[in-house]
Amino acid sequence: MRIDVLINNAGVLGREDFDNPDPASIEHQFRVNALGPLLVTQHLSSNLSKGARVAMITSRMGSMADNGSGGYYGYRMSKAALNAAGVSMARDLAGRGIAVALLHPGYVQTEMVNHGGDVSAEDAAAGLIKRIDALGPDNSGSFWHANGESLPW
Ligand SMILES: NC(=O)c1ccc[n+]([C@@H]2O[C@H](COP(=O)([O-])OP(=O)(O)OC[C@H]3O[C@@H](n4cnc5c(N)ncnc54)[C@H](OP(=O)(O)O)[C@@H]3O)[C@@H](O)[C@H]2O)c1
Repeated sequence: MRIDVLINNAGVLGREDFDNPDPASIEHQFRVNALGPLLVTQHLSSNLSKGARVAMITSRMGSMADNGSGGYYGYRMSKAALNAAGVSMARDLAGRGIAVALLHPGYVQTEMVNHGGDVSAEDAAAGLIKRIDALGPDNSGSFWHANGESLPW
């Protein structure tokens, strides 16, 4: 099976605060949000075609520069780890012409946020598809908002 586009979308959100940094919850988020995309991509790597695109659905909550409100230890830590892994994969797969992007979908009306987001899943997906279409060797390793904005690490 040949894969031209791989989207690592699965994720979980916990809500630990500083006084209750539940280690099991943080570890679970790390496994699903950071380790999962690395292992899935590695396991499927021999199926990725030359010129394939890999999208990691991350979050701007993994950004250090963008963290103005604290909290969410497991989610922030795991998405920051995913961002680090995504940049490493961008470097490691460049020789095969495979490009990797870290994509923040926006604040999306899904179950994760009790449907309280400000963009529909359909509109977020349309933006993500545009970013994946624009992904290639020259911009591999980028961290983008679905709306096209470049995000700070
Ligand atoms: N919604 C937002 O505002 C927002 C903002 C920034 C980033 N994101 C990111 O966007 C991605 C999609 O999130 P969403 O908003 O669609 O959340 P969601 O409604 O909670 O959906 C999460 C999805 O991840 C799957 N999943 C969770 N744990 C899994 C596991 N261990 N193995 C396989 N699948 C698993 C779920 O499958 P099941 O239903 O089968 O459990 C579900 O399909 C996530 O990576 C999230 O971090 C979302």
